[in-house]
Amino acid sequence: MSACSASPFRNNSRGRLVAARLSVSISLLFAGLMNLSLAQATKATAAPTTCATCHAGAAAHYATAPMRHAMEAQGANPQLVAHPTLTTQIGSYSYSVQTKNGQSTYTVSDGTGSMTLPIRWIFGQHSQTWVFEKDGHLYESLVSYFPRDNTLSITPGDQKVTPKNLTEAMGRELSVWESRSCFNCHATGIVPGEKMTLEKLTPGLDCARCHDGARQHMTDAAHDNFTTLPKSLRRMDAEEVSNFCGQCHRTWDTVVRNHWHGPAFVRFQPYRLGNSKCFIGNDKRISCLACHDPHQQVNHDQSYYDSKCLACHAAPKGAGASAAAIKTCSVATKNCTTCHMPKVELPGGHAQFTDHQIRIARAGDPYPN
Ligand code: HEC
Ligand code: HEC
Ligand code: HEC
Ligand code: HEC
Ligand code: HEC
Ligand code: HEC
Ligand code: HEC
Repeated sequence: MSACSASPFRNNSRGRLVAARLSVSISLLFAGLMNLSLAQATKATAAPTTCATCHAGAAAHYATAPMRHAMEAQGANPQLVAHPTLTTQIGSYSYSVQTKNGQSTYTVSDGTGSMTLPIRWIFGQHSQTWVFEKDGHLYESLVSYFPRDNTLSITPGDQKVTPKNLTEAMGRELSVWESRSCFNCHATGIVPGEKMTLEKLTPGLDCARCHDGARQHMTDAAHDNFTTLPKSLRRMDAEEVSNFCGQCHRTWDTVVRNHWHGPAFVRFQPYRLGNSKCFIGNDKRISCLACHDPHQQVNHDQSYYDSKCLACHAAPKGAGASAAAIKTCSVATKNCTTCHMPKVELPGGHAQFTDHQIRIARAGDPYPN
């Protein structure tokens, strides 16, 4: 199996699309044969057209992907429903998050007074941070929920905040610029150059957030017009993919320009991968897409990645062996990522991330960079 066949969806999509188009033609043919008017035929089968009408595989997988749910609006969030009362004490402030009847509230008190706000926007599928609206301003919750430790704790990045009053203890006020960037990475519908209208955003990343022009294509495709296909994202090389995903996962340039160092930035995969000796900018075998299908959840089975590594690190075979076949491992022949892509604890993040700086990692070595 080649590295590029990682997506089962891709293997079948063209067949299915052809089938979908054929079935439209066939039903029209039958409508004609049975002497039905076209209007009746379409009325009888009129379900609203969505991407799933023609791209059933991508749509079905993506429905449960974390990026689809990178942000959710208020309502019955499964994690909060499962933990209807969460509390913690930080300094002189106590916090509680209560969930009942599909509604969650966030309360902070200092012993004398307290403030309760509804949770409006839920950021994150695993760890959660909440965004509130108060008097026309947006705030990021000062505490977040961390499922691994089943705990409420300070939001990563806010450890240095020392609140002087209840409002500051409730959350950190977001500037217009910062809130716009939060919603732009976690939701869909921000138009460059236009004011952000929260009511108009789709929570999470919709297909069109990555596939520019997809909505026009959908309207046109429904009328059998395939001249306005969205730009293909398959042709990008490793560097281009890193920059594309890096719009949100942060690019190598962004990290370097900001002088971000240390394990807090292990989560910025385009940067970490770019630092690895394995990264060859014009080689697709080391692109994010060689190992991840953006429409699916991360594959947690480590053996899945072996073929990705061996695409470059296999011992050359015969005369036709690729010149890029480089160095092989003298230690093991499988589960490469368990040793060469170590898990790193995110400081204050109650979670581990996978270091994408592929390397020889020896026990006791300091975190590189
Ligand atoms: C009525 C059927 C139909 C609908 C609805 C539809 N598409 Fe397509 N789409 C197609 C066909 C046919 C192609 C061409 C496939 C090919 O050449 O392999 C295509 C191609 C694409 C491509 C690939 C471009 C490329 O060259 O790699 C993307 C991305 C895409 N569609 C996304 C979407 C998204 C997102 C939606 C919903 C907003 C959508 N489509 C709705 C039929 C449809
Ligand atoms: C530049 C894009 C970007 C901005 C701006 C951004 N995020 Fe994120 N956020 C991400 C990405 C990408 C992830 C995926 C996890 C990772 O690899 O770090 C993430 C992860 C998270 C998570 C953890 C999700 C999990 O599953 O563990 C939370 C919570 C979160 N963001 C909240 C916020 C909030 C609140 C803001 C604004 C104050 C914000 N983010 C701003 C891109 C962004
Ligand atoms: C518009 C912003 C955006 C873009 C572009 C984007 N991501 Fe994400 N991605 C996110 C956010 C936000 C999350 C966090 C979702 C969560 O857990 O709440 C995320 C999560 C993920 C996850 C799931 C991590 C997990 O914990 O399971 C993977 C894998 C991923 N992204 C890969 C990619 C790849 C590969 C690309 C490029 C093809 C890409 N992303 C492009 C914003 C983005
Ligand atoms: C996080 C970004 C992201 C989101 C969100 C996203 N896609 Fe994609 N999509 C990509 C990338 C990147 C590729 C190229 C994949 C590759 O090269 O393996 C792609 C490829 C495709 C293709 C062409 C597949 C092929 O190879 O023939 C279709 C069709 C498609 N996506 C449809 C969708 C639909 C429908 C949705 C929503 C249900 C969606 N995408 C959501 C990033 C995204
Ligand atoms: C050579 C394979 C490989 C490449 C290339 C790769 N990843 Fe990963 N990625 C992995 C593995 C392995 C994991 C961990 C899977 C697990 O154990 O759950 C992972 C996990 C992730 C996660 C989940 C959070 C974490 O750190 O554990 C995100 C998000 C992610 N990758 C994004 C990316 C992006 C963006 C790129 C491109 C810059 C990329 N990956 C390139 C192998 C790869
Ligand atoms: C695009 C091809 C490519 C892919 C895919 C790839 N590598 Fe590499 N890797 C290289 C190159 C090139 C080097 C540098 C070799 C040299 O120094 O001569 C390298 C170096 C290494 C090294 C030595 C690093 C050091 O610090 O000395 C290790 C370990 C390694 N790769 C493991 C992996 C693992 C594990 C995977 C899969 C998760 C992987 N590689 C995927 C091309 C690749
Ligand atoms: C049990 C841990 C472990 C596993 C699993 C593992 N490696 Fe290694 N690998 C190492 C160690 C340790 C070294 C350094 C060996 C040395 O310096 O003698 C190494 C060295 C390497 C090197 C550098 C070789 C050189 O000549 O510099 C490459 C490339 C590599 N591994 C790739 C892989 C690939 C690909 C896989 C999966 C097929 C893999 N490794 C599985 C531990 C592991």
